[in-house]
Amino acid sequence: MAMESLGVLLLHPMNAYLEQELDRRFRLFRFWDSPPDGRAEFLRANASAIRAVVGNAGYNADAALIDALPSLEIVASFSVGIDRVDLPKCRERGIRVTNTPDVLTDDVADLAVGLAIAALRKIPQADRYVRAGLWKAKGDYTLTARFSGKRVGIIGLGRIGLAIATRVEAFDCPVNYYQRTKKDYPNYTYYPSVVELAANSDILVVACPLNEQTRHIVNREVIEVLGPKGVLINIGRGPHVDEPELVSALVEGRLGGAGLDVFEDEPNVPEALFALDNVVLVPHVGSGTHETRQAMADLVLDDYCPPRSHCSASVSGQR
Ligand code: DGY
Repeated sequence: MAMESLGVLLLHPMNAYLEQELDRRFRLFRFWDSPPDGRAEFLRANASAIRAVVGNAGYNADAALIDALPSLEIVASFSVGIDRVDLPKCRERGIRVTNTPDVLTDDVADLAVGLAIAALRKIPQADRYVRAGLWKAKGDYTLTARFSGKRVGIIGLGRIGLAIATRVEAFDCPVNYYQRTKKDYPNYTYYPSVVELAANSDILVVACPLNEQTRHIVNREVIEVLGPKGVLINIGRGPHVDEPELVSALVEGRLGGAGLDVFEDEPNVPEALFALDNVVLVPHVGSGTHETRQAMADLVLDDYCPPRSHCSASVSGQR
């Protein structure tokens, strides 16, 4: 493949270095340069030139986009999760799909632990208390719940789930887990269903890939058994959780708290959550460090070379 003639469609601005390098090395099309109502026309005009698409966890190569690009050879996702890529269609058309695993594992696991500690110790709320001058005006902040020693239940013990497990072990937290294809881990306790996992955990962490089997894996029943002292941490995908159920459980105090990096309809966050004191909300920033985003950009740029290990692993959707 003559690399300089490779037409690459970047779906939205996601990383300045990546964009600059794609522009330098290939013929770069920026999708956002066309207004939404001009995109069909843009695709018709450039379809034969576009052989690669770069998307991410927000927007990626869905069925309509793939159908509009008959010359498409590769979809390189600037994310580990590839739930927004139409994988069956890619398989059918022989389109290679790549993602950016491994390099973001530590950062996403760090965020999961950070959210759990922040949710239990109410760190953002305490910060707001100080900034509002309430420490001086009203005295000491409310007491919070301890993190060390809490039972942590992890849904999905893949790369990220395991990295969370090893981190929380350092806080003397017993680790429980559920995964669809059970693997044995001598130090961790397996539960055969998410309901049983939640019933035996204080903190439930979603760390599995999103697919039809895991959509709404955290449903009303799971939330009920996690209960008024339980805390849900989601660093997976918004649709892993039945969001209206989560919101009403938090509002009514049927669930103790939550730390959420992801939401069902990003960047929209249910407004009811803004008023709550028992949730910590961050804007899908699991991989959002300089170090990791640079490494992810390098992986995406490598994807135009012959397949490497992360390329062949990609279509499995592992986290
Ligand atoms: C990804 O890359 O899929 C994750 O959302 C990282 O936060």
